[in-house]
Amino acid sequence: MAGHTAAEFVPDSLKLDELADAAHSCKGCDLYLDATQTVFGAGSATADLMLVGEQPGDQEDRAGEPFVGPAGRLLDKALAAAGVERDRLYVTNAVKHFKFTLPERGKRRIHKTPSRTEVVACRPWLVAELMAVQPKVLMLLGATAAQSLMGSGFRLTAHRGEVLHLPDSDDVAFDPQIVATAHPSSVLRGRPEDREEAFDALVSDLRFAADLLAS
Ligand code: URA
Ligand code: SF4
Repeated sequence: MAGHTAAEFVPDSLKLDELADAAHSCKGCDLYLDATQTVFGAGSATADLMLVGEQPGDQEDRAGEPFVGPAGRLLDKALAAAGVERDRLYVTNAVKHFKFTLPERGKRRIHKTPSRTEVVACRPWLVAELMAVQPKVLMLLGATAAQSLMGSGFRLTAHRGEVLHLPDSDDVAFDPQIVATAHPSSVLRGRPEDREEAFDALVSDLRFAADLLAS
């Protein structure tokens, strides 16, 4: 594959805005070919709470900002219910380009889960953001974010509500408290009769993360 990998782009010393600039020309996997643009993280560079989603969706791909579509609105509602202000956070995704399929009929682009290869290719950007922001608490939203940082064997359902730590690795010299929770989209996708409970669980996990900041 021609072009640059994420890992080549990311010297430790790069600050957040320089990282975002560099990420805009990343060709670390094939996802840049069909997506509109790189959607880098956004928010406070000194945030003590960082949230990580999966990848940009259709609206994020057009806007160039993370969590501004339906999942973002749900997240905003959950943050408000938990009493956490979004502008105090740094919000990003495990994968920085939108992966989708175009069904034969209809023009709506359908979200596709990124492969392990794509998640691994994009991981250096996420690690660089983590090192630049150095949040006290890191909240992983959904299996893709969780497996990017905790390893491919990580099971979300087995660790919800626990304080976790990153596994030993060569590239992350930093030890935030970690909370893993369901992805906001899973609340939207669930059965209507399950939504309230799923939403409340997300709010309760956000509150748990915010309480860790105070402790
Ligand atoms: N879902 C995500 O995981 N991230 C976004 O930015 C939007 C939807
Ligand atoms: Fe680079 Fe990540 Fe985009 Fe792949 S998804 S091209 S690794 S920024």
